[in-house]
Amino acid sequence: MSDTLLTAVAWPYANGPRHIGHVSGFGVPSDIFSRYQRMAGNKVLMISGTDEHGTPIQVQADAEGMTPRRLADKYNRMIVEDLQGLGLSYDLFTRTTTANHHRVVQDLFLALHRNGYVLPRTAMGAISPSTGRTLPDRYVEGTCPICGYDGARGDQCDNCGHQLDAADLINPRSRINGEKPQFVETEHLFLDLSAFTEALGSWLSTRTEWRPNVLKFSLNLLDDLRPRPITRDLDWGVRVPLDGWRDAPMKRFYVWFDAVMGYLSASVEWASRIGDPDAWLAFWCDPQARSYYFMGKDNITFHSQIWPAILLGHNGAGDRGGDVGAFGTLNLPTEVVSSEFLTMSGSKFSTSRGTVIYVGDFLREFGPDTLRYFISAAGPENQDADFTWDEFVRRVNFELANEWGNLVNRAISMANRTVGAVPHPATPTAEDAELLATSRAAFDTVGALLGRSRFRAAASEAMRVVSAANKYISDQEPWKRKDDPERRDSILHTALQVVTDANALLTPFLPHAAQQVHELLGGTGTWSAQPEIREVTEHDSPDYPVLMGEYAAEQARWESVPIEVGRPLAKPTPLFAKLDPALGETGPDWAPIARE
Ligand code: MF3
Ligand code: ZN
Repeated sequence: MSDTLLTAVAWPYANGPRHIGHVSGFGVPSDIFSRYQRMAGNKVLMISGTDEHGTPIQVQADAEGMTPRRLADKYNRMIVEDLQGLGLSYDLFTRTTTANHHRVVQDLFLALHRNGYVLPRTAMGAISPSTGRTLPDRYVEGTCPICGYDGARGDQCDNCGHQLDAADLINPRSRINGEKPQFVETEHLFLDLSAFTEALGSWLSTRTEWRPNVLKFSLNLLDDLRPRPITRDLDWGVRVPLDGWRDAPMKRFYVWFDAVMGYLSASVEWASRIGDPDAWLAFWCDPQARSYYFMGKDNITFHSQIWPAILLGHNGAGDRGGDVGAFGTLNLPTEVVSSEFLTMSGSKFSTSRGTVIYVGDFLREFGPDTLRYFISAAGPENQDADFTWDEFVRRVNFELANEWGNLVNRAISMANRTVGAVPHPATPTAEDAELLATSRAAFDTVGALLGRSRFRAAASEAMRVVSAANKYISDQEPWKRKDDPERRDSILHTALQVVTDANALLTPFLPHAAQQVHELLGGTGTWSAQPEIREVTEHDSPDYPVLMGEYAAEQARWESVPIEVGRPLAKPTPLFAKLDPALGETGPDWAPIARE
C-alpha cells in the first residue's frame, strides 16, 4: 500500500550563503528520507524555499547597503544553486516573497482572527534613544532571562531556544551602536497560545515516536503558553489584512509567523505549477496523509508549538473552537524531526568567528556525495557532532573509496576481464546464499531505520552489506579459479548482485554515485533523479529560480532486483577519489584549520 507523505523542510534565510551546519540540520536528512520513501513506492511532496522577510534580511541588507528585496534575490539564487548541487530533491523550492505566499499567510491569519485566537495588545517596543527610530527585536541583544546566556537576541535565545521579547532581556543593548534601548508602547497583534493548551497537549501526548529530546523540549513548552506577538514594527514583510493595519507603514507580520505558513503556500504553489491546482489537498486534508518536518534544534518551538497552534486555530480546533477556515481541516505534523548542531572543532558554526565551511566551496572541491555521506554517518542526529577535516578524510578514504568504491571496481572489472558481461550463475553454495540473504534482508532493516529518520544507523547497516561483500570476494578468491570457470562465474554473479543491492541501499545517501554505478552495471536512463533549476517570472519582478524535478521518472526501487545475465558492463571508473591525508591536518585553503 502506498502512503502519502509531506516532507516539510525548514526554510533557510536568504541572508547569506548556507554553511554545512545548516544543510546538516534541514537539508540532507530530509532528502535522504524523501528519496527512500519514493523508492519504497510512497507518494512524496517535498517542499521548502528561502525565508526572505523580517529583521534577519533587513539587518543584512543594511550591512550590504542594498534593499531587502535585492538582498533576498541575491541569496535566494545562491542558495538554490547550492541545494541543487547537493542533490536535494525538492518537488518545489520557492521563496516567501511570492504573491501566492502573501495570500496564503493572510488567509490563514484571517481564519485565526475570525475564530478569536488573535488579540490586539499594547506591548513595549525598543527604540534607539539617539535616533528615535524603532529598533527591531533582532537588533537588541542581552542576557537571556531563562538560561542566563549573554548573547540572546530580542526575538529568541539561541542557547536555550526560547522565544523572547526584547523587553525581557537583562542588560539590553543595541547591536547597532551598543546603546541601551528605550522601551515605548506600541500596538501589536498576539496569537493567543494560551487558548491552545488543551489541544496542543492532547496532540503532543500522542507523539510518542519522536526523538526523545525533541519531544521533551516540546512538552516543556506547554508550561509557558501565553500570547505571543505576531506583528513587528518593520516595513519589510507580509502586510496585516485588517482595517487600520493594512496600510500602516511600519506594521508587518513577524517573520516566523509568515515563514512556517510557507509549508502550505509552497504546496499550493506546487499544485498550480504542475497544472493540478487541487493536488496539494491529498497531502494536507486527507487524515491518512503523514507529514515530517526537518530542521535544526533552534527551530523546534516554531514547529511543535506555533505552527500546530496556527493549524488548530485555522481548523477551529483550539480550546475556543470556531469554524474550519478557507483551506479545510489541515493536518498537524506527524513528526518534528530535529537535528542538533554541527560544530567545527568544538565551536558552533559562526560566520563572525571565521570557522565556517560554505556549501558552495565544499561542493566545488569535494562534490555532493562525500558531504551527504559525512552528514548521514557522522552528523548531529541525536547530539551535537563535530566536523573535522581529519574525520572527513577518514570517512571518504576508508568507507567510500576503500570499501564501497573498491567493491564496485573489483566486481565489475573482474567480470569485465573474464566474461565482459554479467556472468551466468551455477547452483549457489552456502556462502553465496548467505551473502545474498544478507543483502536482501538489509532492505527491511535499513528501510525501517530510514522510515524513522535513524540515518546514522541506516548508513552503517547499509555499509555492513558492503563490508560483507568485500569479505566474500576476498574469501572466495575468484581470481584463483581459472580452472573452474563455472564457480568463478557464480562468485562474480553473486558479487554483482550484491553490488546492485548495495547500490539501491545507498541511493538515498549517495544519489549521484548511485546513478554512476547504475550505468557501470549496464543500466540506462535515470536511476536517481536530480532537482532542476527552472527560471520563473511573477508579474513585474525579474525572473527567479525555483527547484523542481521529475522524480516519478526515476527507476530506483527499494528492493533487490535480480541482475540480468549477459548484460554488458562498462569499464569501471573510480567512484570516489582518495583524499590526501594532509588535508586532515591543514584543511583546504578556503577553510584552513586555525592554529593557536
Ligand atoms: N529561516 C529559519 C532559520 O533559518 C527557518 C524557518 S523554517 C520555517 O532558522 F518554518 F519557518 F519556514
Ligand atoms: Zn536562553
